[in-house]
Amino acid sequence: MRNKITVVGAGNVGANCAMWAAGKELADVVLVDVVEGVPQGKGLDLLQAGPVVGYDVAVTGANDYEPTANSDIVIITAGFPRKPGMSRDDLLLANYEVVKTATEQSAKYSPNAIIIVVTNPLDAMCQTAYMVSKFPRHRVIGMAGVLDTARFRAFIARELKVSVENVTAVVLGGHGDTMVPLVRLSNVAGIPLTELISEERLKQIVERTQNGGAEIVKHLKTGSAYYAPSAAAVEMAESILKDKKKVLPCAAYLEGEYGINGLFVGVPCKLGAGGIEKIYEIKLSAEETAALHKSAAAVQELVDVIKKKM
Ligand code: APR
Repeated sequence: MRNKITVVGAGNVGANCAMWAAGKELADVVLVDVVEGVPQGKGLDLLQAGPVVGYDVAVTGANDYEPTANSDIVIITAGFPRKPGMSRDDLLLANYEVVKTATEQSAKYSPNAIIIVVTNPLDAMCQTAYMVSKFPRHRVIGMAGVLDTARFRAFIARELKVSVENVTAVVLGGHGDTMVPLVRLSNVAGIPLTELISEERLKQIVERTQNGGAEIVKHLKTGSAYYAPSAAAVEMAESILKDKKKVLPCAAYLEGEYGINGLFVGVPCKLGAGGIEKIYEIKLSAEETAALHKSAAAVQELVDVIKKKM
């Protein structure tokens, strides 16, 4: 029997999640959205791409959650994207309600699923999904670090004219301007970045990475990035469904790791059949620890707002 992925939200990020997942033949995919006809239409369109691309999975759409029953993975992308001038945090209250409903319904029909949250503000939406689903922490994971490191890797690869596959990067912290790229642990085929790029230039690339989402919002004007975010969510789903045990930066619920308790923050995680199978604690310098805690404090502020709503 094939695996099953539910993607909640059939907008830009959701539809592309379905496309990447089908293209990799990872699972049958069910798209769910509140807008009548959109998930059905996009599902049918993706089904019809199957013979061309060569995948045999079923892609379907629905406005209710019954067809999502017994999903292995639920990817939550439902919600509102950013407009120019908005921060991810500006989306907090509107997207809280959306993610709450999406989680309640998904957890009801797929009590054993692993939830991957994409909706922003990411870390606070993970907290919402975690509290509402009451799933154990290894089954609620946020997509942020894979995207942030992908942006960093793409910029470094362009700078050095090397393959993106050779660039490894580590980013910790929340999915916002306070994210903490760990330059000293990033490398090109094992060669430390600091030996390849000047400190000044690296600083510029780090800043561009931290503002990577806003740069795209500014271009698009009517929404936010979706190709790379959806590809990143599907890389996480693939590692879980194939039990690849990739080590990827994910938003995970910390219980004392890095001195942080009761909060979703981006850290390196091993993703396998069980979801988060291990959280890696890297020894940090005093400066890095301070930056991570500053980032966690920014996440805490948003979480405090939604905790009052619960
Ligand atoms: N249940 C299901 N779907 C919903 C709900 C809901 N309660 N509320 C809204 N949606 C749907 C919308 O109808 C829309 O189709 O979510 C979809 C969102 O799609 P887009 O507007 O295209 O936004 P997108 O670019 O996909 O971003 C979605 O992902 O990266 C984050 O910041 C981004 O929070 C945003 C989310």
